[in-house]
Formats: sequence, structure tokens, C-alpha cells
Amino acid sequence: MKVSEIKKKFLKEIEKINSFKELEEIKLNYLGRKSGILTKVLHSLKKLPIEERKKVGKEANSLKKEIENFISLKFEKLKTKEEKEKLLKEKVDLTCPGKKVYLGHLHPLTLVLREIKDIFLRMGFEVVEGPEIENSVYNFDALNIPKNHPSRDLWSTFWLDSALHFSSHTSRFLLRTHTSPVQVRYMEKHQPPFRIIAPGRVFRHERTDASHEIQFYQVEGLMVDKNINLSNFKAIILHFFEEFFKKKVEIRLRPSYFPFTEPSVEVDIKFKSKIKNQKSKKEKWLEVMGAGMVHPNVFKSARLNPFNWQGFAFGVGVDRLAMIKYKIPDVRLFYKGDLRFIQQWR
Ligand code: PHE
Repeated sequence: MKVSEIKKKFLKEIEKINSFKELEEIKLNYLGRKSGILTKVLHSLKKLPIEERKKVGKEANSLKKEIENFISLKFEKLKTKEEKEKLLKEKVDLTCPGKKVYLGHLHPLTLVLREIKDIFLRMGFEVVEGPEIENSVYNFDALNIPKNHPSRDLWSTFWLDSALHFSSHTSRFLLRTHTSPVQVRYMEKHQPPFRIIAPGRVFRHERTDASHEIQFYQVEGLMVDKNINLSNFKAIILHFFEEFFKKKVEIRLRPSYFPFTEPSVEVDIKFKSKIKNQKSKKEKWLEVMGAGMVHPNVFKSARLNPFNWQGFAFGVGVDRLAMIKYKIPDVRLFYKGDLRFIQQWR
């Protein structure tokens, strides 16, 4: 093939090249060391007569340079093209709206518990805790609830497996049915005067419904000094409710019975707004806690002299307060783990 024809052919082909692979191929095809089209021409020069050899040799050499130039030009072109495509692919649209990251948040019962603690801390109460697995002595006997006494039936109990029991048989393990055992545990180790609250989980072996769960939270309160009386209780608890609900409320103490308090009362609270799933806006008294003056026998259980000390105790249902505060119609919602419910506190 003539040098000029080779050039024509090359120019036609290089035009169509669109990838590094094709570029490599065409380079090999023309300039390849053994069978490159142009290489062959250069090799065959020595067979030509001297005049022609000079002429063809000059042409072939300048075409070689030209081809090399074309190839490196094409190479650069392909490279910029590739870079452009890469950038286009990796493009970040800064105007795109971001994906929202959901942070964790506190459970409504945790929020309410924290609020209760804060209010009592501000009134000089100390926060103490007791075990959820309790023994029957603290849960019942020390609270003036003797074995075989009908009052024990007030609390349907989850008893634990006998493997855990003390050998004496006078005490059995159970899931505490209320936070009142913490009263005795605390008084055994501390001398009055004191004021404490004991928040925690309690368990009842009961059928569940909209207002009953087998587990719920209570906050126990206990204030003991030389001359604490029920009007102290009334003042403190009224202040607590007004702080908690952030509005004026009315309370009333109704006579009741608990083995560990004497006298015993039930505290009702009156709202003017709509409560729970009631249709009417009529005022209603809602029962929210049990309370009373610490029974002399409870002081005795803790080795305190009931002639020296007196005080009040109360037990309030945290779930109940949360239900009232957030207008929750069913206590079981707190424990279902349904995110549609829980995330309302986000
Ligand atoms: N422990 C009682 C209950 O769970 C509540 C209570 C506590 C009543 C303290 C009086 C005094 O029902």
C-alpha cells in the first residue's frame, strides 16, 4: 500500500475511534512492531532502489510522526471525555432536600417520672429505690399485712419459683405488688426526720383492661418527723398536683383502708377539662392515690418507736397521672411498643 493511501485509511479510521481499547488497537495496527501496516512499509524500504527509498522513507517517517500525534491527541480527547462523564455521574445536587434523621426520644412514662421526681426534689424530698423482686416480709408482713389476713388479697401477687425461696419458709419471693416495701427498707437504715419518694415498677397478677396492666409504675412517698400530720400531706400533694398539671386543681381526701396506714385516705382530684374518653365536659372526681398516716406497726417493723415519730405515706400511680396528663384512653398503650403511639412524644 502506498504511504498516501495508508494515511487516508488511517485518517478515516481514527475519526471513528471512541474508546481507549479501539485506540490501542489502531495504534497496534499501524505502528505495531511486527505487523503494523506502516512498520511493514519501513521494513521493506531496503528492497527499494535508493532514490525511491529516500522519498518513500521520508514520507513514511513523517506519516509515522503524524500518526503518533493523532493518537496522542485522540488519547487526550478520550481522557477529558471520560473525566467529564465521571464528574457528571458523581454530581451531588446540593439543592436536594436532606433525609431527616430521627433521633431517639424518651418514653412518656419516663418523662412523667422525671417530672414527678423534679417536683418532689424541689420540695426537699430524696429519691430512693428498692428491688422489683421483693420478699413477702417487706411486701406484706412488715407492712402490717399478716399471712392469712384477708387484706393480703388486695394485691394479686406474682409469686416466684420456690427454688429462690429462703429455707425458713416464712418469707417467699415475689414481684413487688407496690412500692410500699421501700418505706420499711428505708426506715430500717435511716433515722427520722426524712422525706423520701420511691419511684419504681410494680406488678399485679390481674386481668388487663383499659385501666389495668400487670405492670405499672408507682411513686411512693414518705415523710416522717415529730409532728407530721395529714394537713401537711394535703398541702404537699396539692402543690405537687398543681405543679404537675400546671394548673389549679381541687383535691379531696376520702376515708379508705390500707393495712399500713391509719387513718387511710384515697385522694381524688377534680378537673374542669375533658378527661379520658368521656364525652361530656362535666366535672369529675378522679381517684389518683392512696395515702394515710404511717401505722405504728410499720414503724415497729423498721425498729422505730411509734411514740417518737409520726408521718404520712402515699402511693401514686404514674401511669394514671400520665393518662390524665396526655389524655391516653388505655394504659396498655404504654407497654405495647407501638411506634405510632410512642413517637407522639418525639
Ligand atoms: N401501696 C398502696 C397500693 O399500692 C398505696 C399506698 C401507699 C397507700 C402508701 C397508702 C400509703 O395500693
